[in-house]
Amino acid sequence: MLPEYTLAGPAGATPILLIHGFPFDRTQWEPQIAALVTDHRVIALDLRGQGRTPAGDGGYLIEFLVDDVIELLDHLELERVCVCGLSMGGYVALRLVDRHPDRVHGLILCDTRAEADSNEGRVARAGAVRTIREHGMAKLAEGLLPKLFPAGELEADTPAVQRIRTLVERADPEGACHALVAMAARLDLSDRLASIDTPCLVVVGSEDTLTPPDDARAMQAQIPGAELVVIEGAGHVSNLSHPEPFNAALLPFLAAL
Ligand code: MLT
Repeated sequence: MLPEYTLAGPAGATPILLIHGFPFDRTQWEPQIAALVTDHRVIALDLRGQGRTPAGDGGYLIEFLVDDVIELLDHLELERVCVCGLSMGGYVALRLVDRHPDRVHGLILCDTRAEADSNEGRVARAGAVRTIREHGMAKLAEGLLPKLFPAGELEADTPAVQRIRTLVERADPEGACHALVAMAARLDLSDRLASIDTPCLVVVGSEDTLTPPDDARAMQAQIPGAELVVIEGAGHVSNLSHPEPFNAALLPFLAAL
């Protein structure tokens, strides 16, 4: 399925593809699109079942989301791109580089991990599906936001918190359930990290409790030549809550590609 997308920046400039987390959409990347658009060809997509891309008939795996990315690259006639994915977007980015290394010429993994869900994680996914079906997205947001942001940020109800609350509450419940099942079924890619043969930047918020800095360090250590940037004070959605240090990490990495 061809996903909905935003395309901005000069034709012919270095292309960067931004893949959002769960259950957000491409608007998660507004601070990066604004910073990148002068010198880069920026593509931000809505994953299947999220944002404006329909869920189709459901029943999909991360593989389908990778196939959708390839369909988009073909549609845009882009042979190779730098791929930047946050959290669920990182799961897609990692599987993309694993299956199609020839289409990726730079990899930015933000607040994500290579391991599959643990047993407890799968049980929690099933619980989240039930919460959505029985009580809707607002109830999911209530439980999710404290995991995405440090307590102080949540209490202050910062613009980033408000933005993410809005994204979660307006997400399509069916699409969110399909995404949860796809994430629960994803492969463990940790033993493939050593074979990644493209420049890689790992970014993580120092306060990210969902995909913590220690996991990011372990991932960086396994990817040959990978760099790591820890965004001080940021939680799980580091690109949105701390756009300045986040962009300051991205720009030199992209410039060096
Ligand atoms: C995300 O932000 O995409 C999610 O936290 C990923 C997950 O639930 O594993």
